[in-house]
Amino acid sequence: MREDAGSALTAAARRSLAGTSDPRLRFVMDRLIAHLHAFIRETELTEAEWLRAIQFLTATGQISDDRRQEFILLSDVLGASMLVDEINHPAGGLVTASTVLGPFYRPGARDLPLGASISQDARGEPAVFSGRVLAPGGTPIPGALLDVWETNENGLYEQQDPDQPDMNLRGRFRTDAAGRYTFTGIKPVSYAIPDDGPVGTLLRALGRHPYRPAHIHFIVSAQGYRPLTTHLFVKGDPYLASDAVFATRDALVVDFIRHDTPTEAAAHGVTAPFYTVTYDFVLQPLDTAPAPGGGTAPQSARIKEAQP
Ligand SMILES: [Fe+2]
Repeated sequence: MREDAGSALTAAARRSLAGTSDPRLRFVMDRLIAHLHAFIRETELTEAEWLRAIQFLTATGQISDDRRQEFILLSDVLGASMLVDEINHPAGGLVTASTVLGPFYRPGARDLPLGASISQDARGEPAVFSGRVLAPGGTPIPGALLDVWETNENGLYEQQDPDQPDMNLRGRFRTDAAGRYTFTGIKPVSYAIPDDGPVGTLLRALGRHPYRPAHIHFIVSAQGYRPLTTHLFVKGDPYLASDAVFATRDALVVDFIRHDTPTEAAAHGVTAPFYTVTYDFVLQPLDTAPAPGGGTAPQSARIKEAQP
């Protein structure tokens, strides 16, 4: 195919954005059209392939509802979610690394007192999570909100599993005056992302496995700080190096320390064996947070790309 095939069409599609009043929308749509056309040109996409892609995206939407979000899953397995995360929350520095939200978050978890359990059905191996929420200088943040969620011992989130109570293994906790939190959950297990829909079909076609390393999710927020969406991963998990959604970060892999003594377990209100995990979350103050995509385009891209 000629290098310039369709280039007049691409230029016309880009010129059609001239009346877009929002500069950021104009920039993003311009880049989308340019890259989409370049992709079609480079792959010499057939009409059958384009139709297959549209059918795939249609099925991805049709299987989604308020309990299943196949588009987030698709974004996750393509590495797009993690790329957006890395651009908006660069690794390094003093603040805790972030990672993807994933498709299983549900707002409205119960507000629980410190020390309470998020498990409503006492399945799995108990794990006691504790630590502090801090500013980058080490100052504790009282009243910080931790919104946590994890799967049960069968690898299923409650909305995937009719045998679990509604909102099981979800909870919201606020740090005390010293910025401390503690709650009981279960030791996370590795699990397969839902592979009975379009995304599963795609993974099989690509020869990929659907597993994620064991983890628990957190959104940590406090007034004056940038909300942190992250996971803690279980050290030693076999899928840490091949996470189906590319979301593992070394700094988020933690030791789950096993305890077998009944007296220790009783002191924590659990049964042996159980695990303890300690982790301090460090939030980024709002006044120092970068603002990726701040309105239009990166300066270099604006100069180079904005003219059709
Ligand atoms: Fe998850």
